[in-house]
Amino acid sequence: MQIYLDTANISEIREAASWGILSGVTTNPTLVAREKGADFKSVISEIAELVDGPISAEAVSLDGEGMVKEGLEFATWHPNVIVKVPSTTEGLKAVYQLARKGIRTNVTLIFNASQALLAARAGAFIVSPFVGRVDDTGVDGMQLIREISQIYKSDSEITTKIISASIRHPRHIIDSALAGADIATCPFKVLQMSMRHPLTDRGIEQFLADWKARA
Ligand code: E4P
Repeated sequence: MQIYLDTANISEIREAASWGILSGVTTNPTLVAREKGADFKSVISEIAELVDGPISAEAVSLDGEGMVKEGLEFATWHPNVIVKVPSTTEGLKAVYQLARKGIRTNVTLIFNASQALLAARAGAFIVSPFVGRVDDTGVDGMQLIREISQIYKSDSEITTKIISASIRHPRHIIDSALAGADIATCPFKVLQMSMRHPLTDRGIEQFLADWKARA
């Protein structure tokens, strides 16, 4: 399973890229708005310079035609740009039109397997089921990944990839891999948490103490 970073923060992307683990980046309007005063095109272009993989940029139009228009512009920014559209019938129209022009899409805000199936049928490159937000409703978000994975695997025509999104903690990453996700898109903090273990810290301390005390 590949790891993407879910952020528009350039320092976080630069740091995680230096770890050699990043295969792509996802952004959304909330994440871009958090980077006060930043110009959308400049942010996406800068990310594309740092990470050699798919970079999702989200359209804000609600109608298919508007999404296509935005998507066509995003696609001129960098060949790795993926146009993110919401999981609505208008979003499906945009996916279908953009796919016919060779532009890849990420259908976001997926909350049930039917949305994922229809998005794949329309020609989505990636779908983004939001596991954390499903968990918040008291339903097992990971079950959604399992269902989509099973449906996609049973249909040889479907090549759409599954990004496990709305990741909240390291266990979500592991469970996503076990449930059949192709990618987990993670907040920077969760990636940092994933590498922390008190026994690792204690082991380093002990090794250093023994090294200093050697005869
Ligand atoms: C995915 O592409 C979204 O940007 C993201 O995972 C949303 O997560 P949230 O529920 O933490 O906002």
